[in-house]
Amino acid sequence: MEEEERTWLDRVLEWLDERTGIYGHTIRQAPRYAYRLDFWLGSFVLGAFLFEVLTGMLIALYYVPADPYASTVYLISNVPLGALLFSLHSWGAYAMVFLLLVHMTRNFIVGAYRRPREVMWMVGTLLAALTLTEAFLGYSLPYNLISWTATTTGLNLFTYMPFGLSNLIAAFTLLPQLPGIASGVDPLVDRFFIFHWIVGALIALVLGLHLYIFEKHGITPPLSKEKDRSELIDNYPEKLRYDPNWKLQPLTRTFGIILVTLLMTFGAIFLISSALPFQISIDGDQIKYIMPEYNPALAAQTPPIPDWYFLFIYFFYKSVPPSMASLIFLGWGAVTLLFPFIDEHVFGHRSSHPVMRPASVALGTGFIVSFVVNSVWAYLTPGRDIGTIGVEVDSLIFLLIFITVFPLLRYLQNRGSSSTDSFNIGKRLGFSKSVTQGTEIVIPRQVSVGVDISILITLGLIVYNTVKMLTLTNLFLDQFQLGFMAGINMLLFSYLVLIYTLKGESR
Ligand code: HEM
Repeated sequence: MEEEERTWLDRVLEWLDERTGIYGHTIRQAPRYAYRLDFWLGSFVLGAFLFEVLTGMLIALYYVPADPYASTVYLISNVPLGALLFSLHSWGAYAMVFLLLVHMTRNFIVGAYRRPREVMWMVGTLLAALTLTEAFLGYSLPYNLISWTATTTGLNLFTYMPFGLSNLIAAFTLLPQLPGIASGVDPLVDRFFIFHWIVGALIALVLGLHLYIFEKHGITPPLSKEKDRSELIDNYPEKLRYDPNWKLQPLTRTFGIILVTLLMTFGAIFLISSALPFQISIDGDQIKYIMPEYNPALAAQTPPIPDWYFLFIYFFYKSVPPSMASLIFLGWGAVTLLFPFIDEHVFGHRSSHPVMRPASVALGTGFIVSFVVNSVWAYLTPGRDIGTIGVEVDSLIFLLIFITVFPLLRYLQNRGSSSTDSFNIGKRLGFSKSVTQGTEIVIPRQVSVGVDISILITLGLIVYNTVKMLTLTNLFLDQFQLGFMAGINMLLFSYLVLIYTLKGESR
């Protein structure tokens, strides 16, 4: 890198590199083409995970697994900032699952799972499984009527798992009959609380591996019209040297954009959690948890409602016998895990461009459509069976998508092969932007007057907001107002960091 382009951070890391060997190997610079937010979606998931760790640790200070419902109610109704904290952790979990699905879908669409990233994808699938397990455990912990009914129903359905998996789950959930449990609370909650920590730690561990592999490979190059090429960016020394779009950028930009994604994630969760307190009502000076406590008699009349991300799986249990539903569920898991190999060896796809992967794209589209249809259907039929019509409709969805999407992509593929701009679908459909350009962040070295003014306004708003936050004296009654303003400040601050990051561009 040229001397004038090295920033203080590069110098610090170079110093560190001489002692540890991490710079350029484990922590490496990203090429210019990667400076678009869609290349950093994993960073948003990472932000949500860190957010959950922080808020979870604070909630744990108040949570008592022997008396889960009462301690949850106490946190919400008595502890200053307690209700906000509960809302932040609950919405944060939704955000993490949602962002994970977006990250996964993006990597699927651009074919980021293809060679040599198959293991990266498989480790990602493991992360998705762990995240869903963590959400399942967390959902049960408040021990309210809906959550614990759904948890026990879920556990019951898991007993139909084939290949000895049901025994494995039973081994983890079977409890010794200890005397002296007087509260009437299911002692399994205590174990679930411990698992909630363990699975969280496992996510952190596997995430470390995910990021290590990512740094080894370097980010997937932009979609290209070339049919077959390696996706390791080190295989393109010429491009990295001469193509301005591939030029490696100073590390300050990488750290800047990561900070932007974290602040955006934190800010958005703060805003939603404060505007829509999670299962909490505010009535004058009373802040209340609206969910009733679990009790076996009431549970018998309560239809189990899993959280939104499990509705898709629950749908199968409502549609076919549980042993069959378990097989479908495991089948989907296996297809997801092994997808990179299915794409290459079963479908025989040879390029990462979506047009060149018609069978994969058709299957992925079918999955997304059926995910939405099944989830809505399961939500609208609480406590009722759907019958085999459910899986029949699912099959029809896949069939219809295959007979429309597959030939369409094959057609585009054949038409494109003779043209130099073969796979620029955007141009084909009449949009002028290239697929490879997408929504690139514009990076002016000279920050214009307009941007200067916007920086001043942003700073002014941050100061105004901060002063207002400091004047809020009642940390109990004003907690959601405080959370809202904190969220706005984080988003404003992310804008300032973004501007600073963009200034550090290297052309
Ligand atoms: C806890 C959940 C996860 C976290 C925190 C996470 C985080 C990340 C991060 C920070 C990156 C670097 C690039 C970026 O920011 O997008 C990345 C890349 C990647 N992730 Fe994840 N990820 C998670 C789950 C998944 C899942 C479920 C999959 C797929 C099954 C997946 C597949 C990938 C792939 C293939 C890449 C390489 C992308 C490329 O080279 O363009 N990840 N992940």
